[in-house]
Amino acid sequence: MPRFTHGSRVPGWDRAADLERDPAAVPDPATTEVPADLRREIAEHMAKYPDRRSAVLPALAAAQRVHGWCSPQALEQVACVMALTPAYLDAVATFYDMLETEPVGRHSVYVCTNISCSMCGADELLQEVRAAAAGEQDINVRAFECMGACDIAPMASVDGVYVGPLEPADAGRLVKDILAGRPVLEAKQLARRPCADPGVRAEQSAAGASGQGHRARAGAANPDVSSSAGPPMKGDAPGPAAPIERPPAADGQNGGQGG
Ligand code: FES
Repeated sequence: MPRFTHGSRVPGWDRAADLERDPAAVPDPATTEVPADLRREIAEHMAKYPDRRSAVLPALAAAQRVHGWCSPQALEQVACVMALTPAYLDAVATFYDMLETEPVGRHSVYVCTNISCSMCGADELLQEVRAAAAGEQDINVRAFECMGACDIAPMASVDGVYVGPLEPADAGRLVKDILAGRPVLEAKQLARRPCADPGVRAEQSAAGASGQGHRARAGAANPDVSSSAGPPMKGDAPGPAAPIERPPAADGQNGGQGG
């Protein structure tokens, strides 16, 4: 699998700041048009946090859903609603690689090429998916680092839906499902499994036929446990509430953190 010059197989951060440009101001709400639904969603995200900047990621994700990517216009609209500069948002958008800073297809296919998936054939899978989606402007296929689903390796995320274990032969069906607007590789969706382990369904069916389901067996081993999630860990307890941020006092002294 070819690597970028910095050694990784994903593009990474490689856009230097333009030191010649004038600093951009917070967009004027009187002259910046923002779609009503987008404005409402951003306002709802901001309302969840004491510091509105905590809502930058979901706000940018919302704008990306509207515009297809974090375009200059999308940044302008988010900046206007959040009373931030577009430069602040650009710094965030260029750091997080699920926020797109170039135009891409609206359907995201992330093929994991990290170690577990790689050892199970992810590189060949990626090639096949790319070939199957060649010429489809609306599909954005890219390699991705571990998505935390190594037990269904090799796997991919299709618009956020995890599918796996995949074979190169699944690539054509994956692309056809996206284009047809139907659930992608339905039988291989992680969310539709009773367990991430691909072998469990058959095992469960056999156990079910003999009157012994998966949960029943887990319960037998741990009589106090009603599900397969396992007993509480020692020391499990809610943590302390996060401190409330207070704005600086009017007399110039620090407002500090509330308790
Ligand atoms: S290595 Fe692919 S999901 Fe972890």
